[in-house]
Amino acid sequence: MEEEFLGNINFRTSHQIVSQSCPSNIALIKYWGKSDTQIPANPSISYTLSHCKTNTTLEFLADEKFSVQTFLAGKEEEKFAKKIEEYFRKIQVYLPWILQGKYCIKTENTFPHSSGIASSASGFGAIAKCLMQLDQIFTDQNGEEYTLRKASFLARLGSGSACRSLYPGLVVWGHTKEVRGSSDLYAVAYPPHQIHSVFKRFHDWVLLIYEGEKSVSSSVGHALMKTNPYAERRFQEAHENLHKLTTILQEGNMPGFIKLVEHEALTLHGMMMMGDPAFILMETGTLQVINKVWEFRRNTGLPLFFTLDAGANVHLLFPHHIEDQRIKTFIEQELLTFSQCGRVVKDEISF
Ligand code: PMV
Repeated sequence: MEEEFLGNINFRTSHQIVSQSCPSNIALIKYWGKSDTQIPANPSISYTLSHCKTNTTLEFLADEKFSVQTFLAGKEEEKFAKKIEEYFRKIQVYLPWILQGKYCIKTENTFPHSSGIASSASGFGAIAKCLMQLDQIFTDQNGEEYTLRKASFLARLGSGSACRSLYPGLVVWGHTKEVRGSSDLYAVAYPPHQIHSVFKRFHDWVLLIYEGEKSVSSSVGHALMKTNPYAERRFQEAHENLHKLTTILQEGNMPGFIKLVEHEALTLHGMMMMGDPAFILMETGTLQVINKVWEFRRNTGLPLFFTLDAGANVHLLFPHHIEDQRIKTFIEQELLTFSQCGRVVKDEISF
């Protein structure tokens, strides 16, 4: 339980600089709805990406008055510093040394800043990794597995989905009887030997439909699930979908995978539309791309499909082993036109 992550303090040296990198992730079974203590309403599973990452350097000066200064891509960001200060106060119980010094945190993303690709997952993942590097120096707790699990635990307290970014491949967060060791408190890797090889190398090309602030934040979206009349059914369905997914993954059932992943994406946005107040994060281009993808699949039978984050961008997924160039050509020649600035971020999954 949480007690496992309480620690002892032992400052060895007063000035430390640590650097860590953490990728972003994209959920296949979505987390949407949580309790106030950042406990997910249902289990989720995601793919960790390879190229969309946050690189963070954290400088810590012990025995100084607690303060946080942050720089994003070289530019000082005071609003972000406040958010991190609040976060550090929240996790103090798990890192007793954390408020006993001053911080300078420099962070940059390898993906475009305004892209709408969630930087909170990779961002909090990288900060949690830095903090655990310091924790290893200041306390006697060690062991790779413990460190990783605690980093995932801490990242979750920053941004729920961030806890999944600590592991490569397919990652589960939220207790489910389908995955041994799964927990609401931190993420775990989905057992790789239970995954057919076709699911171990995938392309994820993120079509940037709309670059800009979302009209409704994830926190507001999660909170609206509390009054959503379909919420309980949705949470139950996520469990059912995880059960279905275990067989799909084992058997290498691509059509089953496509159907389930697209259904999950549309359910997420369906929930937004059923909320009170209702909201829509998809743009016209999102719907046009979805229809185009379906038409392409009907005409070619090729396994190109989509998932969506809490935003307008479309994650275009297709397996790596497909030699056929028609998928890439189709995206570049026919889908790129629906992107606001004609941009696609080409990422992949490989484990
Ligand atoms: O981690 P948050 O609070 O930004 O919520 C993320 C929610 C989704 O991205 C929509 C789904 C998910 O499981 O990542």
